[in-house]
Amino acid sequence: MKPTNQRDSIFLEDAVVLEQHRYEADQYILRIRSPQCAKAAQPGSFAHIQCNPMLPLRRPLSIMRTDPNEGWVEFLYKIAGYGTRLLSEQKPGETISVLGPIGRPFVPTLKQRRPLLIGGGVGIPPMIFLSDYLRRQSAYQPLVLLGSEVPFPFRPRPSQFVIPGMQDGIIAAMPLLEDWGIASRLASLQGYPGHHEGYVTTLAHQWLQTLTNDAMTEVEIFACGPHPMLAAVAELANEFSIPAQISMEEYMACGVGGCAGCTIRLNTSTGPAMKRVCVDGPVFNAKEVDFSN
Ligand code: FES
Repeated sequence: MKPTNQRDSIFLEDAVVLEQHRYEADQYILRIRSPQCAKAAQPGSFAHIQCNPMLPLRRPLSIMRTDPNEGWVEFLYKIAGYGTRLLSEQKPGETISVLGPIGRPFVPTLKQRRPLLIGGGVGIPPMIFLSDYLRRQSAYQPLVLLGSEVPFPFRPRPSQFVIPGMQDGIIAAMPLLEDWGIASRLASLQGYPGHHEGYVTTLAHQWLQTLTNDAMTEVEIFACGPHPMLAAVAELANEFSIPAQISMEEYMACGVGGCAGCTIRLNTSTGPAMKRVCVDGPVFNAKEVDFSN
């Protein structure tokens, strides 16, 4: 998977809503028919969606899954305001305008054969998309750790996979990943059975501590979630000297690089730089992101 010059592959489509399912805590999974977006999307891409024809300002949603052959794209989102509430009211057969896919994707390297995927809350979708990519590449042995403070939008089940180094009793896993043959574990502060009770980054820390030096050299972290979680991921990567790619979330107006409303500060090898999350990211090297403000 290579980062593309994404301006050449952003499409504007009138997408048809195929399915929309509600889960606890105002979470929704939306599937739309959007063939061009489905074909060009890569793990880490997002789409800028017009939630309702009356609402000109679009909302960015991370892509969770695609099927390029069937031409559909799936999102998991949570109602966070007026726009996403209107989106949740869209019914199968209705049309919504979609601009996408947008953004530089996650790019796993072959040297790091043990991808550690960490997703928190609405940062879970890109981790599912990346898992879908990795399961088709025999070179990788991914471990996916997901955290949420509201019930997950799926019914967790005891994992069929033993993960060396994982504490006893932490057995809850995501069924879709189990079906794909990918090991996963879940974390929450809410005391759900079989989950790690605490932050998902603490679970990652505990697991990383059990690895040998050789195994550690094969790990690369990929993460998406709230800023404090990503800051903790950057610290983890630094502590264990592991490469990490993180997907940042920012308020977005245009979504295509024109308004500079989504800039964040990076500390690059050539000095500080302001970068646009929408087109320079959303995926960045964790080492370079400045979390100080
Ligand atoms: Fe306008 Fe990123 S949202 S430049």
